[in-house]
Amino acid sequence: MLKLGILISGSGSNLQAIIDAIAAGTLDAEIVTVISNKADAYGLERACHAGIRAVHLDPADPAYRGASDSSTPADKAAATTAYNAAIRDELTVVGADYVVMAGYMKLLGLEVLDAYPNRVLNLHPALLPSFPGAHGIDDALAYGVKITGVTVHFADAEFDRGPIIAQIPVEVREDDTADTLATRIHAAEHTILPKALQWIAEGRVTVEGRRVYIS
Ligand code: GAR
Repeated sequence: MLKLGILISGSGSNLQAIIDAIAAGTLDAEIVTVISNKADAYGLERACHAGIRAVHLDPADPAYRGASDSSTPADKAAATTAYNAAIRDELTVVGADYVVMAGYMKLLGLEVLDAYPNRVLNLHPALLPSFPGAHGIDDALAYGVKITGVTVHFADAEFDRGPIIAQIPVEVREDDTADTLATRIHAAEHTILPKALQWIAEGRVTVEGRRVYIS
């Protein structure tokens, strides 16, 4: 059974989709921790409600700045390293063997990525490599594409770049607003993310360079 650590920053509707898929027996996994960089992320409440360990790790916590209270680039880099080491330590102490960024809106550090090579998944609300970043839905709508979608991929040290595991297209309709398009994008996410995780649970996913093969 997969032991998942889930990273979130917000609503956690994709966390909920994973919780629901596990409860429904369509995903053979257990969530061992939910980590948020935001104290008010609703996903933390969803985790508590489901009886799942939920942790807020605040990137601004002075503990990550060590003895220094200056903010030179080197100090900031050291604080980012310490913060990501804290995420890694939380993941390893609970025995996570895969990590899912389900709406985690910060760049994940090498401290985590190196501890989980090709074992960190990211979810993105567009068909990568189109419209990376924090506004994938709005950017696709503003650009005027007729088809956008959802991508699940292995994370690397750049935002929204690593090897692609799965994508689903979502049509952009003439009368779409950001809200109506987002509703269909999120519905697609809630399907594809648990499905991709189940492929991994079944041992069907291999990575060769940028290519991901599903047997
Ligand atoms: C999802 O749409 C996810 O694709 C997006 O954040 C949202 C989180 O929703 N992630 C990114 O844009 C990453 N670049 P949720 O908190 O309801 O699961």
